[in-house]
Amino acid sequence: MSSNIPTCRWGIISTGMISSWFVADLILDRPDAKVKHIIQSIGASSVQKAQAFAFRHCPKSSPTINGSYEEVYADPNVDCVYIGTPISFHKKNCLDAIAAGKNVLCEKAFTINAQEAKEVFEAAQKKSVYVHEAMWLRHRPMIAKLRQLLYEDNVIGDVFRMSCDFFDRIDIPNLPETSRYKHPKLGAGTLLDIGIYPLTWAFLTLDPNPPDNAERPNVLAAQVHQHGVEVTSSVLVQYPSSGRQGVITSTHMSNKPSNPICRVYGTKGYVDVTGEKPSHPHFFTVYKSKEDHQTFDQGQKYEFLHVGQGFIFEADNTALDIAAGRKESAIMPWKETMRVMELMDEIRKQGGTEYPQDHE
Ligand SMILES: NC(=O)c1ccc[n+]([C@@H]2O[C@H](COP(=O)([O-])OP(=O)(O)OC[C@H]3O[C@@H](n4cnc5c(N)ncnc54)[C@H](OP(=O)(O)O)[C@@H]3O)[C@@H](O)[C@H]2O)c1
Repeated sequence: MSSNIPTCRWGIISTGMISSWFVADLILDRPDAKVKHIIQSIGASSVQKAQAFAFRHCPKSSPTINGSYEEVYADPNVDCVYIGTPISFHKKNCLDAIAAGKNVLCEKAFTINAQEAKEVFEAAQKKSVYVHEAMWLRHRPMIAKLRQLLYEDNVIGDVFRMSCDFFDRIDIPNLPETSRYKHPKLGAGTLLDIGIYPLTWAFLTLDPNPPDNAERPNVLAAQVHQHGVEVTSSVLVQYPSSGRQGVITSTHMSNKPSNPICRVYGTKGYVDVTGEKPSHPHFFTVYKSKEDHQTFDQGQKYEFLHVGQGFIFEADNTALDIAAGRKESAIMPWKETMRVMELMDEIRKQGGTEYPQDHE
């Protein structure tokens, strides 16, 4: 590995599932890596949790072990703080890290609502630090290729519709009280947890504009609630300038896979995206209409290199942004996070989902 590539020393906040996935990808052995990632510091609600996490997930590193998040924010050797806590804690975690002058990569959904996101970005601007919502899907090389095929090469003619569903069966009544899926005050509900992926697929496949100049679609939404939380969302997304529509759904009531995970319809064909879930796409296939306009060709499959689970693309881009002195990601700029949060606020308003934080 070349020694003059940028290095990013990460401080990991919390030791749950997503932090373990993220760290697993950071420490992958990559001979052709364009960035060197170092797990510098781990912060958890207890020293024991931080220690167990380091032992299990980064056995070849020797990160600083901390029984609080504050010690990570205060560590002068940390270049970027990764926040992997439930959504309801993101605002506080971001504000605390920013107050300590740290750059931040914070898991999706960025915050509970747009007002919280605004507060975080205002603080980041004042402190002149980098902040980035970790919507890792947008960083996958597959996305740039798909958008090029749809809107530069027009391989399926005029795009007019897409559909995407995210399912994940959650047994809410039997979860512990501390679970992020259980209570609105912890940000429970499908939209912010998984519905944000179909929504992102809609933005990426229906709007050719770059994320800092994205068109705001209209949304028509319905949501279902059980056990006091939103368990199913259905949203119709429509772009005023083109009439393009997205039919997007998410549910915590089923584990039945939907394949393809996303389908994009054009006047001269369609694209099927295949993978485990909308957060984990593997490849896509372009099917072109035959001359009869009724049938389709056998399809051209576009495959992509798999590196771990795929977090490395956003991690590399974050490290490169910070090394270049940028304060925002061009792939997920602040303006785009605000737009996504505002649209999710609107969907929740129509669907009747409120969080206690909406009234603070
Ligand atoms: N990018 C993706 O594909 C993806 C996938 C899953 C989740 N996520 C996002 O990642 C975030 C965390 O998800 P997760 O499934 O990893 O969460 P999790 O395992 O339930 O919790 C992560 C950590 O947050 C802290 N925590 C959890 N519940 C808490 C509570 N009630 N009170 C105080 N602290 C609590 C704990 O930190 P300590 O370790 O410090 O005790 C816990 O280890 C969410 O924002 C979610 O949307 C992203």
